[in-house]
Amino acid sequence: MLSTSRIAGRRLQGVAPQWIRIMSGSQAASTWSNVPQGPPDAILGITEAFKADSFSEKINLGVGAYRDDKGKPYVLPSVRAAEKKVTESNLDKEYAGITGVPAFTKAAALLAYGADSPAIKEDRVAITQSISGTGALRIGGAFLERFHPSKTIYIPTPSWANHNAVFKDSGLEVKKYKYYDEKTIGLDFDGMVADLKAAPEGSIVLLHACAHNPTGIDPTVEQWKQISQVVKQKKHYPFFDMAYQGFASGDTNKDAEPVRMFIRDGHELCLSQSFAKNMGLYGERAGAFSIVCTSAEEKKRVDSQIKILVRPLYSNPPVHGARIASEILNNTQLKEQWLGEVKEMADRIITMRALLKKNLEQLGSKHNWDHITSQIGMFAYTGLKADQMDKLAKEHSVYATKDGRISVAGITTGNVKRLAESIHKVTG
Ligand SMILES: Cc1ncc(COP(=O)(O)O)c(C=O)c1O
Repeated sequence: MLSTSRIAGRRLQGVAPQWIRIMSGSQAASTWSNVPQGPPDAILGITEAFKADSFSEKINLGVGAYRDDKGKPYVLPSVRAAEKKVTESNLDKEYAGITGVPAFTKAAALLAYGADSPAIKEDRVAITQSISGTGALRIGGAFLERFHPSKTIYIPTPSWANHNAVFKDSGLEVKKYKYYDEKTIGLDFDGMVADLKAAPEGSIVLLHACAHNPTGIDPTVEQWKQISQVVKQKKHYPFFDMAYQGFASGDTNKDAEPVRMFIRDGHELCLSQSFAKNMGLYGERAGAFSIVCTSAEEKKRVDSQIKILVRPLYSNPPVHGARIASEILNNTQLKEQWLGEVKEMADRIITMRALLKKNLEQLGSKHNWDHITSQIGMFAYTGLKADQMDKLAKEHSVYATKDGRISVAGITTGNVKRLAESIHKVTG
């Protein structure tokens, strides 16, 4: 309702009453006055501090994205070739179906579960394309919240920082199981097993399939067998997050082995896949979420509910990244090339781990740095404490998260010596 009012002798015509109240200072509250300031994202904060540093030899080990040996973002030649093919085929820009590009999801399932997987042969894998790995976890969280009898998911301590938020926002209760042992800078296997045994029967358990983020510590094959048994005994429901298939060991089959082992052991499970790291498709957001069902009939019902869930979230996923991934996975020659490039990336990471350890030892460091090379994947959990990480940033222009995690992808033959010297100084 518009009105005519007088403030400090001025006549205000056609001004809404709530504005008149605000202008006159009688009521300062706005619609969002109760919205609190949120904390900045930990990783983005590091990038900002890095950018603001003018030192020419500064090192950023915060970002979870691969860099080449010059420290530059890397577009895989197989991705460039696939993208060229996609562009040249002049495809239209119509909507994909709710579950995405079928040639992509079919190939993604084969890559994860293996061509000889009984679950695939028996047509009991329900799969949908997702907004990369994060989107897959979010769809999974929402599906479990809607249909799984337990509404509690157990995640490792520590876990990828976003797991807690994704599952909480999906409506699940998030609890923790032990994973990292500070004393050994290794896996607290006994603690993990004890916590899985203590969790109420039929709980949901989040497992990192390979290259655990942030610790880089994976269970051994023997330990995976025992984890599978405990999960089975307790009738828990495993949710595998596989964000780094191929990126850990350089072999996509080896990295998927825990998931395949669980299926051989007769588990029902679900899986989140990302093509951000292993294809370097970060910004394209290509991923998949799948549920291994007990029959083809059950798969159909599950599939129908995944569609009902996705439709009001974002209707259908973007096609470009999925088309690139599909071109690679469905073309024998390009796939061979890609597998070679994944191995090259994994090998560079493994080489940088060895170089960092060697440099630290050559400097005469008294600490044991074996964990740098025994850990796997993009991240190394150095064991450095928050104050040491602070010193690294402030005194040496080396930026990484306060928990001591460094992205090995940010290490190069050009900066490893200075990095080792800096770590040696703050741990001396
Ligand atoms: C363990 C883990 N899961 C999932 C993701 C999701 O990545 P994206 O959404 O980029 O595929 C990441 C990314 O860093 C991760 O480390």
